[in-house]
Amino acid sequence: MEDRKRVALITGASQGLGACMARRLAELGFRVIVNYAHSTGRAENVAAGIRESGGDATAMRCDVSDESAVIALFAELEERFGGVDVLVNNARIDPLSRRPEETDGMWWDHVLSVGLRGAYLCCNEFTRYAEHHRNGRIVNVSSCRAHRPNELESIAYATSKLAVHCLTRSYAAALAKYAITVNTLAPGMIATENMIKRIGLDGYEEECRHIALGRAGSCDEIADGLVWAVQNGFMTGETININGGQTYAP
Ligand SMILES: NC(=O)c1ccc[n+]([C@@H]2O[C@H](COP(=O)([O-])OP(=O)(O)OC[C@H]3O[C@@H](n4cnc5c(N)ncnc54)[C@H](OP(=O)(O)O)[C@@H]3O)[C@@H](O)[C@H]2O)c1
Repeated sequence: MEDRKRVALITGASQGLGACMARRLAELGFRVIVNYAHSTGRAENVAAGIRESGGDATAMRCDVSDESAVIALFAELEERFGGVDVLVNNARIDPLSRRPEETDGMWWDHVLSVGLRGAYLCCNEFTRYAEHHRNGRIVNVSSCRAHRPNELESIAYATSKLAVHCLTRSYAAALAKYAITVNTLAPGMIATENMIKRIGLDGYEEECRHIALGRAGSCDEIADGLVWAVQNGFMTGETININGGQTYAP
């Protein structure tokens, strides 16, 4: 039996759902790696909050779209903590954050570089060390937007999310021989701390008209799906849809 503490790497965990999922995995006893790219103060606060609650957390900067940085992160985690047991590919570019100077092509590359390329690079590094981490888990965070027509400004984002389902099924097949499961978590609208700032109250009410349960889900309600995917060893290549009835499983 291993006596090392199992390690969970959550990409993009400086705020929102990522921070919530980091807290939940720390509560399950994981040593949590709170990854971020820009927001050092926020990520350090998330990690400090987990430690104050008795958990084990370290904030680590890594731009997941940067191949050499991802390789270095996994090598460092192998060296310092014995590797990654649970990888949650959660980092994203907010679909509402496009800058005026970004052309369509720049925006496409920007969005896909984090949400898709970043998830692919992290899955590959996880796979490099997989035979040492039997019973590991990968959870790729998608969105209910992957399976419905989108407004023009969200097409790049939604396309990256649909492609994430392909990553899940492919790595699920590749890693099954190590008893590693790979699943997709596909939330609908989430009530993060930034939700009203992002879409405004009117935007929120409009979105809710398309949700059968009439509201956004809390981060904790979405994180329940992550806990399920981490604790269950017989589900792989699947999608956990938690969206209040906004879309139904494809
Ligand atoms: N919010 C929703 O309503 C909703 C709905 C469906 C699905 N989702 C999905 O749920 C997940 C979390 O959503 P959220 O609303 O909590 O996200 P968010 O608030 O936009 O946070 C995104 C996170 O990604 C990090 N990040 C950005 N670029 C990065 C990079 N290059 N490398 C590493 N980290 C990077 C950010 O950290 P820095 O600030 O340090 O860059 C931040 O921690 C995402 O996958 C999203 O697509 C969200």
